[in-house]
Amino acid sequence: MCAQRKVVLITGASTGIGLAVVKELQKHNLFIIATARKSSLERFRFEGIKESDHLKILPLDVTSDKERKHTIRMISRKWGGVDILINNAGVCYRAVVEHTGLKDEFRQFDINYFAPVRLARLLIPEMRKKRSGKIINISSAAGMMAMPTMGNYSASKFALEGISESLWYELKPWGIHVCLVQPGFINSNACFNVRYTDQSFSSFEKESDPYHFYYTNMSSFVLKMMRLSPVKPEKVAEKIFKIMNQKNPPLRIPVTPDAVLFSWMRRIIPRRIYHYLLYRSLPGIRGWLKKR
Ligand SMILES: NC(=O)c1ccc[n+]([C@@H]2O[C@H](COP(=O)([O-])OP(=O)(O)OC[C@H]3O[C@@H](n4cnc5c(N)ncnc54)[C@H](OP(=O)(O)O)[C@@H]3O)[C@@H](O)[C@H]2O)c1
Repeated sequence: MCAQRKVVLITGASTGIGLAVVKELQKHNLFIIATARKSSLERFRFEGIKESDHLKILPLDVTSDKERKHTIRMISRKWGGVDILINNAGVCYRAVVEHTGLKDEFRQFDINYFAPVRLARLLIPEMRKKRSGKIINISSAAGMMAMPTMGNYSASKFALEGISESLWYELKPWGIHVCLVQPGFINSNACFNVRYTDQSFSSFEKESDPYHFYYTNMSSFVLKMMRLSPVKPEKVAEKIFKIMNQKNPPLRIPVTPDAVLFSWMRRIIPRRIYHYLLYRSLPGIRGWLKKR
């Protein structure tokens, strides 16, 4: 049992933001349970992260009901439950709506929406008994605004935002805090993990495809913005640590300058004008049809 130390469970912790959070939390007096898919556990070793009396590494594919239940039961039995859940694991599909089939749609939602909700649901009873706890869901600027070729990703994060808002109201009386961390572009390798559907991949490759320039323009734009971003995963990790220590953290926390800017723009600019301006600013938009 870890009576004196807070127990923190983090998903998708072997790369990017998750890994940076593990490294950040190691500097503090916490009990960390870093999880990753079985096939990715090896990465912890490459990063020099080893198990110790304040860090456990466990396999957890967030989409597996069996693994989720087994992990939570084990944590409850061995370490007295989870005080802070960081739902970080996520994937991003790049595909226009027309190029997204049910299988990819479900996969996107399974990882980004169903898994964090189901993990939270497993932990809420114990948190309610203790009348304390934090559920930190890693959302995205894409959870407040949608972009072409990222509809399914945005939909999954919008859904996560919606349910987190409900949870915020439901759990507040029990002393449990729910937070949405909203990163915008981050200077990391996550852009190389973007997934394509069969159709979006073939369109990206084939210049004659009606959506070809949507993909080439949007992917090089996203890559450029990520490369230019001054924010590295370590910075986001520091902010997450601050949130963990806040007594009453707000529900939504944009954690990069672009996410802050967009959250203000969404509030201040009338929606009609906002959508028009964003449309006009899409990379290469004037050529999307002219090139056909
Ligand atoms: N990078 C950005 O610019 C950005 C911006 C906004 C929001 N975000 C959000 O930040 C979070 C972390 O992303 P990141 O930037 O750190 O990207 P990343 O490096 O690609 O990390 C995503 C992590 O999720 C894990 N994951 C995927 N499917 C999983 C599954 N079924 N079970 C368990 N883990 C799984 C991956 O593990 P495997 O390697 O094993 O697949 C990987 O460790 C995500 O929720 C993402 O949507 C990122």
